[in-house]
Parts: sequence; structure tokens; C-alpha cells
Amino acid sequence: MAKRRITIAIDGHSSAGKSTMAKALARELNYVYIDTGAMYRAVTLFAMKERHILNGVVDEEGLVVDLDRLFLAFKYNPATETSEMHLSGINIEKEIRTLEVASKVSSIAKIPAVRTKLVAMQKRMAEGAGVVMDGRDIGTVVLPDAELKFFMTADPEVRAWRRLRELKEKGKATTYDEVLENVLHRDKIDSERAVAPLKQADDAVIIDNSNLTMEEQFEFMLNVAGKRMEI
Ligand code: DC
Repeated sequence: MAKRRITIAIDGHSSAGKSTMAKALARELNYVYIDTGAMYRAVTLFAMKERHILNGVVDEEGLVVDLDRLFLAFKYNPATETSEMHLSGINIEKEIRTLEVASKVSSIAKIPAVRTKLVAMQKRMAEGAGVVMDGRDIGTVVLPDAELKFFMTADPEVRAWRRLRELKEKGKATTYDEVLENVLHRDKIDSERAVAPLKQADDAVIIDNSNLTMEEQFEFMLNVAGKRMEI
């Protein structure tokens, strides 16, 4: 059976494993993977560096003015076999994964001008098919016409344990309680914000992976994608 190249949108709660699955699908299908969370994290780091976040308070107006000087790009790194985030030409992939950035990113991601700028970039990046994009508003706002949409979730405790293991593997000092609090806090802000809140698209395939292995989940998603690609 002939196959067409499609666009796959993956949304869901933080630390639900979206990026792991999105990367694996993109690799298997030979598609481009776009991590939109990395873009919101990059704007957060930019805001920190430009001193628009001081003592946890965001100077929204100052940041919005400075958005004209924000230059983000994904560049492929053959050594890690992934596209890494660059800010004004500098690789910031490691810096954007810290708990400090994670704890501030929701307050940046809810700023309308930030979302408008990033959504426009994301739409451009997804032009032409053969794309897997993950985030919170991909199926609802960025790519409402995507041929396939997934919505991934898992119990907050399960997500916190997974995230803690990941952070520990990277040598980051933190505790389960701290990570769980961050997960719950981000769920709340992501779901309650006025602009593009996290919600399931009506036509999304919902996956609760609390009790699924990576392999089970990957097989399921690949299977659904395969069917959607049939012409
Ligand atoms: O997926 P992530 O944890 O790297 O995302 C970082 C933050 O960015 C998360 O708290 C929510 C926000 N985000 C968003 O608002 N919209 C997206 N499309 C992607 C991420």
C-alpha cells in the first residue's frame, strides 16, 4: 500500500515522555523532529540573560520589546544525532534543561507576544509534510490540520519519578518532592493560562502511559501513524 508523508502533532502534560516518543517516531519514519518546548525554554533563558526576570518577577514589557533581538535556531549535531537549540548562534541545549529554567518557563510561555512569535516560527518550520512536532498547543493552535494528533499523559507521580531519574542521570542534584512540585505547578499553569492552554484536541488519540513501557507505547504510536499514512 502506498504511503504519504504526514504531519504528526504530539501534545500532553510535562514529563509525559512526549519528546522521547516524538524523537523515536521521527527517526523511524525519517521525519524532522521539532521540540517546541525547547523554544519556550530558550526564550526563558534569553529573558534571564537579559535580566527580564529578577527575583522571580518577569518584566513582561521589557521582554516583549527585546523579542526583536531573539534569534533562535535548531542545528543538527551529528555527535548526539539530535537538533540542538541555539540562541544567537550559541548552543544552549544544556542550559535550557536545568531545573532553574524549568521553574520559570511557564511564566514566559503564558505571555501572548511570546506565543505569537513562536507559533509563527513553528508553523513555518512545519511547512511541507514529514514532521513530528511536540508541545502543548500543537494539535489545537499550531497545526490544527495535522493528519495525526496524539495527546500523552501519565499520573503526576509517575512523571515525577521519570523526570527525577533523568535529572539524576545528568548529574543534577534534586529531590523527588522538588520535581513533583515542579510537575504539578507546570500542569496547573499550562492548563489554566488564558492563551493556548494545554488541552486535548477533539480529534487526538489519547495515550495514558502510566502503565506502558516505552516499547509498547512506541509500537502503538507507530502502528497508528502507519495506518494514517496509507493512501
Ligand atoms: O515540553 P517542555 O517541558 O520542554 O516545555 C517547557 C515549557 O514550555 C512547559 O512548561 C510548557 C511550555 N510549552 C508551551 O507552553 N507550549 C508549547 N508548545 C511547548 C511548551
